[in-house]
This record gives sequence, structure tokens and C-alpha cells, in this order.
Amino acid sequence: MPGLRTVAVVAGTALLARRALRRRIRTSPLWPMPALQEPVSGRPRSRALRLLVTSRETIAEGVVQLRLEGHDLPRWEPGAHLDLVLPSGLVRQYSLCGDPEDTSSYTVATRLVPGGRGGSREVHEQVRQGMEVEVRGPRNRFPLVAAGAYVFVAGGIGITPVLPMLRALPPGAEWRLLYGGRSRASMPFLEEVEKLGPERVTVVAEDEAGLPDLDALFAGVPEDAAVYCCGPQGLMAAVEERVPGVRLERFAPGARAAGNGAFEVELRRSGRTLTVPAGSSVLAAVRAELPDTLYSCEQGFCGTCRQRVLQGEVDHRDELLTDGERGDSMLICVSRARSERLVLDM
Ligand code: FES
Repeated sequence: MPGLRTVAVVAGTALLARRALRRRIRTSPLWPMPALQEPVSGRPRSRALRLLVTSRETIAEGVVQLRLEGHDLPRWEPGAHLDLVLPSGLVRQYSLCGDPEDTSSYTVATRLVPGGRGGSREVHEQVRQGMEVEVRGPRNRFPLVAAGAYVFVAGGIGITPVLPMLRALPPGAEWRLLYGGRSRASMPFLEEVEKLGPERVTVVAEDEAGLPDLDALFAGVPEDAAVYCCGPQGLMAAVEERVPGVRLERFAPGARAAGNGAFEVELRRSGRTLTVPAGSSVLAAVRAELPDTLYSCEQGFCGTCRQRVLQGEVDHRDELLTDGERGDSMLICVSRARSERLVLDM
């Protein structure tokens, strides 16, 4: 066991390191970083910021929480997420789970997904305390609306956008939460969530109790209730089946690009014509033919997959391009066709 002197030295060293990190934030020539590109017209773009990782902590099995510090950071509302640019250039979205009033730091948590697309592995293996990372946002497509009552369903890491909502609910609000996960040890923020409303929170750990009973959860839910769900695809599909108007937060690739029937895409320079099925994206179809096609976030945020459109009417589903840019280009990871055929300059 360490002696008192050792403990004091370690604590002192940690304090000095933390002060040094804060000094680096104030003096970094990269801070504040200018906007990457000024908007041409239409919707404004969020600034890219370089923030310092001042803490990296394992908060549940396979879940790492990062605290990213900066200065006078853009404010956010519960449900918002941040785009994190990883060291390799991949862009991934993580829900903000800290305090929206704190303009000196953002907090995000990420679960390691073995066999995933590589983003979570990069966060877990390469993002370290003391590093600078680039972020964009925050953005919110999962906002907390005014409602007579609330039902939240969160699966595992899906609790991250829900947690700030629970903290923000007015006293006396009627709400309930179903929080599921593989095991209690793998569920982040479990203790805090349970304390927020022991009588309103149902925790279902699969290794103890199996799958959650969604029918029981939704029995007797008032018609004016707002229903929110974030978690694995299977859970979100099951909730949507029962509550078609549920508000979903999806981070899975291609989820926003699916739907609305199949269409054709001609790649004019390559001389190929592809069919994009209803359940898949233009990017997936193009990459099957041209595997070197660049992409990153697969969510319509980063712009890496942008392609010039020569013919056809685009169903734009991104959150990046300005109206002017939409005149002749599209982000093929999320956007689809309104016409039967698109012709791309690739
Ligand atoms: Fe990021 Fe398409 S890959 S916008």
C-alpha cells in the first residue's frame, strides 16, 4: 500500500499535469480554430474546434468517457451530439452526456464495438489524455420537446443522449425510462440514472432478466406522451413497431439513407450503371464497384463522400451542404434520388 508521502506526491503531480493541460488550452496556437469553410448560402456550418482531452476514464465495461476541454464552447441542448474527428481522419458522432451549462468542456462516452467500422476501436486505443482532437458541432436532431409525458427507452450506450434529457425534465414531469443492457456492469451511468427516479426507472440487465418487456412499458402510456429511443437497431425497430411516432437517435451507417424504393445511378466517367436498393445507400452501391471511393462519417456530416451530380433530382438528406452546393452535388452516404435515375461525375 502506498505511504502518505507517495500519495501526496502522486496527487501533486496530477494537479500540476492538469494545470499544464489547462495552460496548453489557453496558449495553443490552434485555439480558437477558425471555421473550416464559410457557408456559401443556406444553413450555417458549425465551427471546427480543437479541444484537449483532459480526462479519459473507463466508466463501464467496454465504455470510455472523454472530457474535452476548450474555452467559450458553443452551447448545446439535451439530445445533441458532437462530431469527433479521429486521428485517422474518420468522423464519428457521439452524444453529449455532460452538463449543457458547462461552456468549458464537452463530455462524450463511447462503447468499444468489436468488429465495428473502426471508430470506437480508435477512440479506445488511440485517444489519450493530453491529446488534441478536432470536433464539429454540436448538432441536435433528437431534441427534447414539450409534452404531457415522456417515455424513454435506452439500450446500453444509448443512454448517453437520454441522460441530459432526464436531468433537464422539469420537476413534476411525468416520465418513465426503460434502460436495458447486456449486464449491469456494461451499462454506463447506471447508478446516476437509478437515482434520478427510482420509481420511474426500470433497469433490465439481459444476463439477469432477459429481454425487456416493451408491451408492458407502453401499456397505459398517455396519447400525448413523447417517446424517445436510442440503442441497438433491434431495440429501436421493436419500439418503432409499437410506437410509429417514436423519436429515434440513429448512428448506424446507412440508417438515414435507407428507404423510398430502388433507383439507378450511372457513373458517367467509369461507364457503369448501378441499382441502389431501398434498404441501402448510394455509397454502398458505389463502393461495391469502386472500392476506393472516399467516405468517413456515413452520416451526411463530414462531406468526404461528396460527388458532382450531372443529371437527376436528388433527395438531399445531409446536414452539411448549402443550398448552392446542392445545386450540383450530393453526399452519397445519405442522400438518395427523387428521380428514377441519377448521373454522377465519377
Ligand atoms: Fe461523411 Fe458522407 S461520409 S458526409
